[in-house]
Amino acid sequence: MTPILEVQDLSVSLGGRRRWLGRSIPPVQAVRGVSLAVAPGEVLGIVGESGCGKTTLGRTILGLQRESGGEILLDGKRVSGLAPQAARRVRNSIHYVHQDAGAALDPWWSIGRTLEEALAIQGIGDRPARVAEVLAAVGLDAGAARRYPHELSGGQLRRVALARILALRPRVVILDEPTSGLDMSVQAMVLTLLRDLRVRYGLTYLFISHDLSVVRRFCDRVAIMYLGRVVELAPTAEVFAAPRHPYTRSLLEAAPRLTGRRAAEAAPLAGEPPSAARLPPGCAFAPRCARSSAACRAEDPALALRDGAEVACHHPLERAMA
Ligand SMILES: Nc1ncnc2c1ncn2[C@@H]1O[C@H](COP(=O)(O)OP(=O)(O)O)[C@@H](O)[C@H]1O
Ligand SMILES: [Mg+2]
Repeated sequence: MTPILEVQDLSVSLGGRRRWLGRSIPPVQAVRGVSLAVAPGEVLGIVGESGCGKTTLGRTILGLQRESGGEILLDGKRVSGLAPQAARRVRNSIHYVHQDAGAALDPWWSIGRTLEEALAIQGIGDRPARVAEVLAAVGLDAGAARRYPHELSGGQLRRVALARILALRPRVVILDEPTSGLDMSVQAMVLTLLRDLRVRYGLTYLFISHDLSVVRRFCDRVAIMYLGRVVELAPTAEVFAAPRHPYTRSLLEAAPRLTGRRAAEAAPLAGEPPSAARLPPGCAFAPRCARSSAACRAEDPALALRDGAEVACHHPLERAMA
């Protein structure tokens, strides 16, 4: 089956300035050679510490940020190499839900007006009917259309944000930290709703999160990112039962509830990640890795399929050992 979305060797550099006098600021390599393919209807988790490039990857797939290298394919057709406006046009079946979705709503506009405006911008007609449909789909009653953002709870605002995206009939939805900042019961509500909407509208999700317990419950496969690279990509059950990359194992061990291992057995993540603006040669994780060798410091390992998981490591953990 053709993947609905495919990213091939995608790189994105941000910022960077050349100055006539004085020191120039080097660009940040926020995404470095990421490749992944998402099947229709799949939920792919994108996991990693803050600053590893998750949001930049999402914004680039969406077309808000231009890639500096690599390709993006939608239904097998190339949609990269375009300026942002044209990129958004050809990718209008991809939509993005910001982590603080409520903050994106105009406080002076009723919910109904916000939703209708989103449809008007896309030139979509029959707006009141569609607004009513999507409000119902996210579990809000029709009266919500007359309310204003400040009258709604955090959970209701998340529902509105989802309704606004659904009104545009997306096929791929990039969810950026959709449960962050919510308490447990609202988190559970949001996840149940997302699952329900995925089935009802046949959606495909890119689920960006740093919350491993949520990812474990929600995603079919998981891509683990470290400093702009995907270091491991495997079915969710594999990643949690048998992490192959030493970084993945450290991440899991930092959340002992997930592994059931005693803290004494854990090898905690030592040191800070190097600056994304000044990466060492070789594997970016090598300075923090107990298994690193001269090869790791010399050559950045490519993502390669080994025994059921894709891993970018010169010394991956054996499946039985992990
Ligand atoms: N506009 C920008 N200019 C320069 N660097 C940026 C910009 N936005 C983000 N970055 C840097 O790019 C890297 C990736 O950031 P981001 O994609 O936001 O990561 P994440 O979403 O995983 O926390 C970080 O090092 C961040 O500091
Ligand atoms: Mg982010």
